[in-house]
Amino acid sequence: MDTKQILQYARSWVLEAGEEIRTNINEPLQIDTKSTPDDLVTRMDQQTEKFFADKIRNQFPDHRIFSEEGMGDDISDLEGVVWIVDPIDGTMNFVHQQRNFAISIGVYEDGTGEIGLIYDVMNDVLYSAVKGEGAYKNGNRLPLLSTTEPLKRSIFSLNTTWLLEENRLVEASGMRELVKSLRSTRSYGSAALEFAFLAEGVLDGYVTMSLMPWDIAAGKVLVEEVGGVVTTGDNRPLSMMDRTSVCAARENIHGETVENYINLKK
Ligand code: IPD
Ligand code: CA
Ligand code: CA
Repeated sequence: MDTKQILQYARSWVLEAGEEIRTNINEPLQIDTKSTPDDLVTRMDQQTEKFFADKIRNQFPDHRIFSEEGMGDDISDLEGVVWIVDPIDGTMNFVHQQRNFAISIGVYEDGTGEIGLIYDVMNDVLYSAVKGEGAYKNGNRLPLLSTTEPLKRSIFSLNTTWLLEENRLVEASGMRELVKSLRSTRSYGSAALEFAFLAEGVLDGYVTMSLMPWDIAAGKVLVEEVGGVVTTGDNRPLSMMDRTSVCAARENIHGETVENYINLKK
């Protein structure tokens, strides 16, 4: 694929979509719920996804689209070029806070992440990465992550759900031990921003138990470009087709985290 050309289009579409969201940020929202009463979707999520789907289909008719809100293709494999799109990641933040949400776009070729773009819309900050060419924040290259700082001086992003005994996916006791071993935790409510902050080096890890490919696709490219490691919670390669657990962290603390603290429930 012509990575340079695709990146140019993707970047300009992301900035255009972000501008549209910012312009309308104070307009009344049309909010619906999806799988649960707390699983929110707005007209803006759908409109933004349609914007990308139309642009991609028009410019790259042989590319496919794997996206959250139903405007993409029916995807059962990642052959060829596939755009993995989350039009608004952090919809709950978008609805409640009008900030702390992002547009996330990963472009994959035959299952390999080639381009990752994460746009922090309200702050007008664009994180971008091309496989093998480094990661950038607003065009400035991000340095490689530390490979020496220990867990005890690390900040992880972690959702408090995973500390509750009754959660169905991970042993809470191990997660509580992880919290005790860290310097501190944060929780931003947008997986894409959590990956971007890890790539930027302001977080050292991000552990969560249930993400979809569009939450991860761009972030994985970014984090790997600065030397971070992204796997499932039990240290397997991530599937970019199914819901999955995730442990993303700096290289020297990733192994320790998955081995000593994360015990997935069977
Ligand atoms: C959600 C956010 C959130 C994560 C959820 C995702 P959405 O995406 O990334 O941080 O914890 O699992 O579903 O629904 O706002 O696009
Ligand atoms: Ca999402
Ligand atoms: Ca979304």
